[in-house]
Amino acid sequence: MLPNTNPKCPFLLFCCCFFLLLLHTISFACQNTEREALLRFKSTLHDPTCRLSSWQGDNCCQWRHITCRQGISGHVISLNLRNPRSSYDLPLDWKQSALSGEISPSLLSLTQLQHLDLSLNYFNGTPMPYFLGSLKNLMYLNLSNAGFSGVIPHQLGNLDRLMVLDLSALYGEQWVRADDLGWLSGLSSLKYLDLSAANLTSVKDWMEAIILMPSIEVVRLLECLLVEIPGYVPNLNMSSLSVLEIDYNSFDSILPPWFWALGGLTYLSCVGCGFYGSMIDSILMSVKLFDEGSSGLLARTNLCYLIYMDLSHNSIEGDIAEFFNIVTGCKLGSSLQTLRLGTNRMNGTLSERVGKMTALGYLDLSNNFLFGPMPKEIGELKHLQTLDLSNNSIMGNLPVNW
Ligand SMILES: *[C@@H]1O[C@H](CO)[C@@H](O)[C@H](O)[C@H]1NC(C)=O
Ligand SMILES: *[C@@H]1O[C@H](CO)[C@@H](O)[C@H](O)[C@H]1NC(C)=O
Ligand SMILES: *[C@@H]1O[C@H](CO)[C@@H](O)[C@H](O)[C@H]1NC(C)=O
Repeated sequence: MLPNTNPKCPFLLFCCCFFLLLLHTISFACQNTEREALLRFKSTLHDPTCRLSSWQGDNCCQWRHITCRQGISGHVISLNLRNPRSSYDLPLDWKQSALSGEISPSLLSLTQLQHLDLSLNYFNGTPMPYFLGSLKNLMYLNLSNAGFSGVIPHQLGNLDRLMVLDLSALYGEQWVRADDLGWLSGLSSLKYLDLSAANLTSVKDWMEAIILMPSIEVVRLLECLLVEIPGYVPNLNMSSLSVLEIDYNSFDSILPPWFWALGGLTYLSCVGCGFYGSMIDSILMSVKLFDEGSSGLLARTNLCYLIYMDLSHNSIEGDIAEFFNIVTGCKLGSSLQTLRLGTNRMNGTLSERVGKMTALGYLDLSNNFLFGPMPKEIGELKHLQTLDLSNNSIMGNLPVNW
């Protein structure tokens, strides 16, 4: 038995349902201007595998690769046109499904766009569109391996909400270029920067530019033809940088002391960078340059926090035992999980201190000038999964039952 209800109630209920239904319909309806902008954008693209075939009809929020904000407005907030086939597939296949053609400035009508991914397409060596720098709400921009060339437009530096910028082209064919990175300083929200395989050969102050980005956490500049590396970088202690990957550049320089003064750095990779000189001198110089006044060798270096370090294929010298002494002098011991110094000029013997590198899972010291006995303490490395000491003069066996 239903309780005695007011006769107006069913009507109110009906109104309410109707209103909710209406709201639901509106909430996913796209804006007319944005729909037209998308159609204009589509019209200048070549789309060999018809990835944009669902782009018809009124409601662009239901088209594939598009996301609208849920709510009354229905503004387009994401356009994800990443090629589903990657360059790891057969190169032919990859090109076959790549979008090409021209990127229409009609994109600027998508005023609320936050996420734009055009990676793994092939824009025939055309310049990156400078007008993307006017999409003020962008938070994610991925133009990686998209076949652009020419100068990276400095207008991208206007994107002060951008958190991720990936312009890398490690598998692409065209090279973008920059002669100066001053525009990076406008990217005040940027956390992730990848310019790998951009031609940065004439950029001198790249590290100074990186330090000026207040939110930066990850920087990848692999194969950028960089030749200049500063000997000193001011204000490193302010940096939020935690990952620095600059492999395969040709610095032809001593190992820079400021590497160890980046307080938050946990991941450092500079394979094949043309570094020479003593590792220990570099660390001591860092202490001298950046740690004036405070006592204790490790007071402000990151050597106690580094988790990953790969300096393989350089010409770095130094006594490995002395290096182990330094990094195991930390209050909580060494945090290094991966240490790769293969193909360098390190010498000395593996001291028993190696047993204090308790976090190590990967140790590669191959192709150096190490000698002497194999310390039994190596058996204390409970997490060690990979050990490569080949091409040294270390004698003795690994501990049994290890
Ligand atoms: C950018 O796109 C490439 C290729 O699709 C992808 O591998 C990469 O992870 C993306 N970058 C970021 C930072 O999401
Ligand atoms: C890199 O850019 C410089 C000019 O900045 C140019 O002279 C050089 O040829 C470029 N290198 C390659 C490999 O494209
Ligand atoms: C960084 O170093 C400068 C100069 O040594 C100093 O004035 C500043 O207070 C330091 N900032 C932080 C956050 O430690």
